[in-house]
Amino acid sequence: MTQTYEEMDAIAMLKADHRKVEDLFEQFEKASGKAKKQSLAETICLELKVHTAIEEEVFYPACRGQIADDLVDEAIVEHDAAKVLINEIEAGGPDEQFYDAKVKVLSEMIEHHVEEEEKRVEGMFSQARSAGLDMDALADAMRARKKTATTEFESGKRAETTTFEGDAGVAA
Ligand SMILES: [Fe+2]
Ligand SMILES: [Fe+2]
Repeated sequence: MTQTYEEMDAIAMLKADHRKVEDLFEQFEKASGKAKKQSLAETICLELKVHTAIEEEVFYPACRGQIADDLVDEAIVEHDAAKVLINEIEAGGPDEQFYDAKVKVLSEMIEHHVEEEEKRVEGMFSQARSAGLDMDALADAMRARKKTATTEFESGKRAETTTFEGDAGVAA
């Protein structure tokens, strides 16, 4: 029997989010109409904003001190790099010359990032599992935050970077 999202532990939940976004990126690659592309790109951006928020606010802080610090630091900088593109894509549209390229580069950045999280043994999730984090409690906290974050981002909140100097990714 397949687990529902509500029943998943923290790692299963985050992996399910990853698969969902990978599928959306694939659909974007195959899509031809501009309206379809824009709507897929907007869904991708929303999903990624919510996902990065729940990781940064719940999962990553729980990992701090329990797994290698550089894993957490690099993950946050990777999120921030993705957020710059997310804000660009949301502010733009499929008529722009670089729109498709931005979505493609975002998909490649996310692919790399997901690999770092899911890699066996030395990946972040596997380190967190070995460190004995309470994955059920974290899942509950992330599900709760996911609901409020979705509402916030659906009403137009942009992605905010936390590690970059300057205003590259911060909402104007
Ligand atoms: Fe993730
Ligand atoms: Fe992440």
